[in-house]
This record gives sequence, structure tokens and C-alpha cells, in this order.
Amino acid sequence: MKKVLVATAAVLSMSVIAVPAFAEAKKGEKIDAKAKFDQHCVACHPKGGNIIKPSKGLGKKELAANGIKTEKDIVAKMRNPGPGMTKFDAKAVPDAEAHAIAKYILTTFK
Ligand code: HEC
Repeated sequence: MKKVLVATAAVLSMSVIAVPAFAEAKKGEKIDAKAKFDQHCVACHPKGGNIIKPSKGLGKKELAANGIKTEKDIVAKMRNPGPGMTKFDAKAVPDAEAHAIAKYILTTFK
């Protein structure tokens, strides 16, 4: 009986330690921005284009021509898009993910 108790205590204390360690690992997890872009955006913006409104592609020059120059501008567009684009609120795409996608766009499409 004593052995069982010791074993149980050991398992319990391990799980107590394991939970915060896991949460930590998840928090520091790197966001795969390309995967997120492919998941949320690529249907309408293949290769950084725009199948619905071709004049509003994601190339650097196209963005700049429409007043979009920074990560923040792109995130703002996701939160409050123009006609024809899906709205992505913080529930659909949390801030950290939104910024990762924005950075991916700015560094990928010319
Ligand atoms: C259902 C199709 C659709 C999806 C999905 C979509 N977009 Fe769009 N996007 C559009 C359309 C249509 C516009 C042009 C809207 C307008 O006229 O303002 C646009 C415009 C934009 C612009 C402005 C481009 C410019 O040159 O002015 C950005 C930035 C953008 N989208 C980013 C994204 C991101 C990031 C995602 C994924 C999180 C995404 N879009 C998903 C359809 C979509």
C-alpha cells in the first residue's frame, strides 16, 4: 500500500511540473507564417495576387500604392477588410499570428 502511495505521489508531482513546462513550450512556439497564410489567405491571394480584385494584390508595390506599408497596416486590413475579403478578428487569427502573416507577406511578395 505504501509503495502505491509513493508511486501515485510521484506521478502527481510529475504532472504538476509537466503542465507549466508544456505551457511554456507552447508560448514560445514559433509560428509557421507560411502555413497560416496558406490556411487563411491563399484561396484569394495565391502567390500574393488577388483573384477577386486584381488591383489589390499583396506585392510590395501594389500594397504601397494602396497606402499599406507596414505589418500594422496589413493587420489592420485583416481586422477591417475591404469589400469581398473575409474579416479576420483576433479570435480567428490572434495578434501574434496576424503579425507573423503580415511579416511573411512583406518579405515574400515583391
Ligand atoms: C475571400 C477572399 C479573401 C481572403 C480569404 C483574404 N482576402 Fe485579402 N483581399 C480580398 C479582397 C477582395 C481584397 C480587396 C478589398 C478592397 O477592395 O479593399 C483584399 C485585400 C487585401 C489587402 C490589401 C491589398 C492592397 O493591395 O490594397 C491585404 C493586405 C489583404 N487582403 C490581406 C489578406 C490576408 C493577410 C489574408 C489572410 C489572413 C487575406 N487577405 C484573406 C480577398 C480576400
